[in-house]
Amino acid sequence: MDHYVAEATNDQHCSARLQQIIDRCGRDKSNLIPILQAVHASEGYLSYEAISTIARELQISPHDIYGTASFYAQFKFQKPGRHHIKVCAGTACFVGGGDVLLEAIKATLHIGPGETSADSAFSLERVACLGCCALSPVVTIDNEVYASMNPARLARAIEKAYRHEARE
Ligand code: FES
Repeated sequence: MDHYVAEATNDQHCSARLQQIIDRCGRDKSNLIPILQAVHASEGYLSYEAISTIARELQISPHDIYGTASFYAQFKFQKPGRHHIKVCAGTACFVGGGDVLLEAIKATLHIGPGETSADSAFSLERVACLGCCALSPVVTIDNEVYASMNPARLARAIEKAYRHEARE
């Protein structure tokens, strides 16, 4: 299927899902948070288009919706990458070089925490202790745990994810 046709079809599906969520939750302003949670669960983030539609349907300004949503750490406003990297920023991992790993990702993929790479391949999250401090510094990529991580191993793990995609 042509790329643009596929994208337009996907947009139509997103729009239909959004309407279903709003229909289900109701258009009362008090339902804003459940609607945002349901949309986030469905799409993985809150897009500008989704916020605009919710604003229109609930008669709330997009600015107020953004203000409310940004108060909650659970909501993301950028489309997540196809692969999700978590860098542990807990004490043991930080002491072990967690910040060096964040710098390495910045240098390689040009993204910081909360951002998605330009090719949409990777998104990055800085998280609190992952509960496996003895393995520090710890990184997860798509829920696979990488122990004793360093920039060279991290670069190989990123390359592996790209190679895996190329084979699919
Ligand atoms: S501090 Fe990183 S796993 Fe605990």
